[in-house]
Amino acid sequence: MLSFFKNLWKLLKDLYKLLVADTLFTPQPFLFPYRSELQVMEHLVSSWCNDRSLPESYILPPEKRPGKLTVPLANNIPVIDLGGHDQTDLIQQILEACQEFGFFQVINHGVPSNLMDEAMSVFKEFHALSGKDKAIETSKDPNKSCFIYTSRANYATEKEVVGPYTAEVRKLGFRILEFISQGLGISLDGLVGNQTLLVNHYPPCPDPSLTLGLGKHMDPVVINILLQSDVYGLQVFKDEEWIVVEPIPNAFVVNIGYPLQIISNGKLKGAEHRVVTNSNVARTTASYFLSPSNETLIEPAKSLVDASHLALYKSLPYKDFLIKYVAASTDSKALEEALSTTV
Ligand code: OGA
Ligand code: NI
Repeated sequence: MLSFFKNLWKLLKDLYKLLVADTLFTPQPFLFPYRSELQVMEHLVSSWCNDRSLPESYILPPEKRPGKLTVPLANNIPVIDLGGHDQTDLIQQILEACQEFGFFQVINHGVPSNLMDEAMSVFKEFHALSGKDKAIETSKDPNKSCFIYTSRANYATEKEVVGPYTAEVRKLGFRILEFISQGLGISLDGLVGNQTLLVNHYPPCPDPSLTLGLGKHMDPVVINILLQSDVYGLQVFKDEEWIVVEPIPNAFVVNIGYPLQIISNGKLKGAEHRVVTNSNVARTTASYFLSPSNETLIEPAKSLVDASHLALYKSLPYKDFLIKYVAASTDSKALEEALSTTV
């Protein structure tokens, strides 16, 4: 089993040459019931996704199933216009969104919409390949030309899309982190050491009530800038209820992960979220994660801790944080207990 994880992770790393250093983040199949992660999962999914019924292995136990599939659109996560010029106001809006929801969407964010569209087409084209072609593509040397990076069949001559897309999204990620750092009054310099682009694909599902695209989880990264395209599926858990994240044209969905909750000493919340499937259309999304390097200490910022604000979390190198994250699997209470100073 362990070597399966290792191989899967190696595959992810190989495919996305954007990954920088080694990381311990291990994809967990129990977290991803109905997500097609590159060719390994796609083999499994595509072999039956035209069938009428969901194979047993994808059926979740009743308590893990999505429950009500249609949830109210009211109380949606904040949409923040980054094109505004009042920086203080922007910082305030972002901080409030991170405190209350752990999630927000951004518009007028500066990433050209044609680049977003082109990148999404490349991601969709990749996932539309046959399992065999995907296996060929993903086995290629990622440091030379390969489909996902340079795009399209004739990738030797086509212009690059995913590289420039990632560069733009990276800029956006750091800009948002700068706003957060100013809002908290702490420096986040040096916190980010790795970037990962993860392209998710959720094929149409014969019975969305029995499974999930992505199980309830909190991201173990600093921040995720998600291109979710125009298909519903993402939901955020808030006050014991699921809130739908409405697809907005040309917007990015931004969410902060657990490490920022620790660094802010609980001021900001990393929210749990999940993906539900639908029976009509495939959904392709791209997560762009910024995460710390393995040795970076994840701990409450010193200036946020004093006699009346005790440190709520232990100080741990990121790699040890990840070990605890993986050990807690999807149990957020167990994770909180493992990281908290008070238990
Ligand atoms: C993730 C994630 C949401 C989506 O990749 O961690 O939460 O809509 N993705 O694909
Ligand atoms: Ni996530």
